Amino acid sequence: MKTVETVRDLRTVLSSLRSNGASVGFVPTMGALHDGHLSLARELRTHCEVRVCSIFVNPTQFNDINDYRAYIINVERDKELLQQEGVDVLFAPHVEEMYPAGFQTSVSVSEVAKPFEGALRPGHFSGVATVVAMLFNAVAPDVAIFGEKDFQQLALIERMVADLKLPVRILRGAIVRDADGLALSSRNARLSPEGRTHALLISRGLYAARDSFRRGELSAAVLEEIVKTSIRQMPQPIIDYATVVDEATLEPVQKVRGACRILVVARVDGVRLLDNLALT
Ligand code: PAJ
Repeated sequence: MKTVETVRDLRTVLSSLRSNGASVGFVPTMGALHDGHLSLARELRTHCEVRVCSIFVNPTQFNDINDYRAYIINVERDKELLQQEGVDVLFAPHVEEMYPAGFQTSVSVSEVAKPFEGALRPGHFSGVATVVAMLFNAVAPDVAIFGEKDFQQLALIERMVADLKLPVRILRGAIVRDADGLALSSRNARLSPEGRTHALLISRGLYAARDSFRRGELSAAVLEEIVKTSIRQMPQPIIDYATVVDEATLEPVQKVRGACRILVVARVDGVRLLDNLALT
């Protein structure tokens, strides 16, 4: 695996890899890699010849500077994991490479970015859209993959790519879970053993709601209540939201019709845990 830190070096490496017509696939990350991230790289294997991964902790998407400072990653460990996975190129730029002095451009996606995470974390999605647009411009991938774990982010990227007519195909990667159902997240490391048990109530609630949907329940309010009832079994439940939305627009629905998903965020041990499940 080749590791590069500048856009210039990245372009040089990629142009030689591309010279025989090879197609390029891309997985953007912020490091602290786990099997969720690696599954995205694995999924790309059948869609391209050259795989590029980026590790960049993007300051502009943290609405709280303390969260940014607390986001610790071990690039050497991450590199090993990517190497084992057979990724061809790692792009790991420094902050000054991506945001040099004088930087003042941003990309914003209006409606998709408004509710849920957008409402709770002002500026977050504009930071995400801006850095992903820059990364797409640097890598020029034929295909890129994002996890369904951050479903609103995925919807935002799909919207941005369609609106700006970016020549990249976006793939959706399924959520990777531990055997007991907990969605993998670098934040899970911050849970106490007890908190981890409580966290299971989130995915359990989602699966219970989906079971009920499969038995014929179409009312969003009823399905949402099933998720909330599960989470309320925690000692101090804090639910930021548990909402059935239309997959494309992220607008809340009253009745499940077409492609819908339940999005949920609950806090355990002060850690915000995001999860969601398709109603299919
Ligand atoms: P990060 O949180 O590092 O996530 C990188 C990618 O991994 C995202 O597409 C995310 O949805 C996916 N992912 C995380 N956990 C997953 C899981 N359990 N199963 C499947 N996929 C999972 O998301 C970001 O970084 C940043 O916002 C980024 C897009 C890199 C822009 O800075």
